[in-house]
This record gives sequence, structure tokens and C-alpha cells, in this order.
Amino acid sequence: MSKRSTPLQNNVKTVNQSLLLLCTHEYDIYCRTEFYNIQRQHILQKKPIRGGMNDRKGNTIVERKHSHVEICLHGDVAFEGNTTGFERFQFEHNALPEIAFRDADISTTFLGRKIGAPLMISSMTGGYSEAATLNRRLAEAAEHFNIPLGVGSMRQALDNHSHRESFAVVRKYAPTVQIFANIGAPEIAKKLTESNITTMLELLKADGLIVHLNAAQELFQPEGNTDFRHVLEQLTLLTATIPVPVIVKEVGCGISASTARQLIEAGVKVIDVAGAGGSSWQKVEEIRYTRQYGQENRFSLPALEELLNWGIPTAKCLLDIQALKRERPGFSAIEIIASGGIQSGTDIAKSLALGAQLAASARHILKALHERALEETIASWLNDLRAVMFLTGAATIEELRHKPLITKP
Ligand SMILES: Cc1cc2nc3c(=O)[nH]c(=O)nc-3n(C[C@H](O)[C@H](O)[C@H](O)COP(=O)(O)O)c2cc1C
Repeated sequence: MSKRSTPLQNNVKTVNQSLLLLCTHEYDIYCRTEFYNIQRQHILQKKPIRGGMNDRKGNTIVERKHSHVEICLHGDVAFEGNTTGFERFQFEHNALPEIAFRDADISTTFLGRKIGAPLMISSMTGGYSEAATLNRRLAEAAEHFNIPLGVGSMRQALDNHSHRESFAVVRKYAPTVQIFANIGAPEIAKKLTESNITTMLELLKADGLIVHLNAAQELFQPEGNTDFRHVLEQLTLLTATIPVPVIVKEVGCGISASTARQLIEAGVKVIDVAGAGGSSWQKVEEIRYTRQYGQENRFSLPALEELLNWGIPTAKCLLDIQALKRERPGFSAIEIIASGGIQSGTDIAKSLALGAQLAASARHILKALHERALEETIASWLNDLRAVMFLTGAATIEELRHKPLITKP
């Protein structure tokens, strides 16, 4: 058999080679940052990290942001016994695809703009100095592939001028792609001021604002805010006044069809389902809680496992919202993002066939960055996607959206 590389392998190699130098250099800088030193000190000596605002329980928000990244990289935070549901589907094979693999066109549109591929880098971080290094790398990758990027919660940028640079860096290194600001439901419930909105949008020259709904995360967070009253009312006011589209996302528990209906009626233009099966933010916060208090003493043991794995599987959210959109023709322009456990191009392809405009990923992207393989990983996912297009006979993403999925028994 010939040992020559396939076109698919060649494609990945070219990207790898051209980015290897850059990645290695960046990674060295990244590892040498204070970020890891602070983390080590915090974890090994259980010392609080100084600096930054205190929240209600005396933890600094900077410390929390550090722990989130560290726990997502090294902790066991994947859902157990509650999967994305993508494994239940497979595409119908097309033995006569009648296209050349190299001609599969993965470009598509999002909010009316052409983008390089139906993939978005999900909201992750920002708001402390070391986050600038992470955000810079994510921005460079987004720019390289011409894909959208969401930043992490901007609450810190509203409260503290000194951490704004960790967000501003994103627009500097991703000057041409769609960038989305991010804020949590608890902040919305308290009502954002006009100046808050302007700060967030101007810092990034943002193309939209993402609001995250994270009730389960707040429930498990040692210092969580569990007052979710007035979120819908404030969202309705926000969508009526803000000059950019509002995207609402979960963070891993999913969005049901009935919640989607309420959000759309409130003026939301894009829904990111962020369903169960990927990262469990209940688990992330449970790790932080047990580090602080030694053991979980808030919930009964039998309920704990169910609560830690609570959420609607990503594929089920997509199916149910697709059915809602069919029932309500007025909702047809609403764009859906599939996220929660996306970790390959076959996941992306299935998301599109289940009604999503694009897919988005957080923790697996963060892990790839940490393993010096950010661009390489994204390139491999996009080649997976081309492979599915070839094997189903879809020359464009639009055609792929209509390819039949078989439900496995
Ligand atoms: C380190 C990290 C920090 C995150 N911070 C935010 C945030 O500030 N705002 C937000 O909306 N989502 C945040 N998320 C949640 C993700 O955007 C995503 O919804 C969730 O992790 C599920 O996707 P996944 O299974 O691909 O990780 C964060 C995720 C990670 C991994």
C-alpha cells in the first residue's frame, strides 16, 4: 500500500506545520505566566489568591476565574450517565456522492455574515490579567479560521477598569470576525445600565451580547447567586433597547422548547442550547465547594448524583426547538447554536442536520489550547465535517442541513 498522505492528512499537516512555531512560542509564554504559579499556590497550599473584588463569601472573583480554567483543564467535570445524544444518530451513507472531497465548501453564514465554518468558540474567560493570554490565543484561532468567538462574563470589566485589557485584546487579535460580549442572568436581573451595555460593546466592538442562564451553576457555586427572578422581564427590556442582537445561552443544562419560546417572544435572536453531555458546571462548582468546605453537606447523596448530571441532552434540545420552529413559522429566522459536549466535526455535522445554524465548543477548545494543539484540533474537526459532507454527497453546508439522519435503535 502507498505510504503517501491522503489529501485530508495533507490538509491537517499544512495547518500544523505553519502553526507549530507560533503555538510552541505562545505556549511557552502561556506556561510561564503568573497564571500557573498562582494556581499552584492556591491548590497546594489552599491559600486564597489576593487582589480583585471580593464576592459575598469573601472569595475574590479573580480566584474563581482562575479555578474555573484550572478545574476545566484538570478536573473530572464531564457528565456521567447523561450524554449529548449525538451518538443516537448517524447520517445515511451516500454511495454515489457525486462530489469531489476537495470541493466540499464548509463556509456558511451567521447573523447575516459569511463565516469560514459553522463553528464558534464558546464564551470562556476574561476579567483578570492572565486571561489576556488565553483570550489572545482564542482570538488568533478565531481570526485564522474566520469563525465567531464569545468572551467570558464581562462582569469584572464593568466593576474594575484594570481588567478590561483582557477583553480588549480579543478585538486586537481578531479584527475581522464576529465577537460577542457576555454577561450572566444575575446581572441582567439587577438591570444593566446604559453605560454598562456601552462599556461591554465598545470594549470589544462587539457584534452582539450573549446572556448566559446558569441556574444550576449558581446553585452549586459556593458564592452563587440563586435569585433568578425578573430575568425574563429584564431580557425583554434589554432586547428592545440594545443596538445589537441578543444571544441567550445555557452553560450545560440545555434550553427546552418552552424556554426557547419565552426567549424568542422576549426578542432574543439567537439561542445557544448549551445542553447536557459535555461540561457539567455543577461539577466544576462542586469541586470548588468541597475544596473550601471539605465535603458536600448541602444535598442528600442520592440526589447529588442526579443534580450534578442535571440537564437536557444537547441533541434533544435541538430536536425540540427544531419542532417548535416548524410549528411557529414566525420563529423561522431565529438561529440556533448547538453546544454542550461538541468535540468533533461529526458532532458539528449532526448539529446542523438537527437544525442548528452552527455548533460551538468550550472545554475541548480550552484543552486543545493547553495541549498546544488549538489550530490543529479545529482543523481536524473541520476535516471531519468535510468527510461527512463527502460521504453524504453535500457540496455545501446548506445541502448538509437537509441530509437524512438515521436514529440508531
Ligand atoms: C473555563 C470556562 C469558563 C467559562 N466561562 C463562561 C462564561 O464566563 N460565560 C458563559 O456564558 N459561559 C462560560 N463557560 C461555559 C461555556 O461557554 C459552555 O457553555 C459550557 O462549558 C458547555 O460547553 P462545553 O461542553 O463545550 O464545555 C465557560 C466554559 C469554560 C470551559
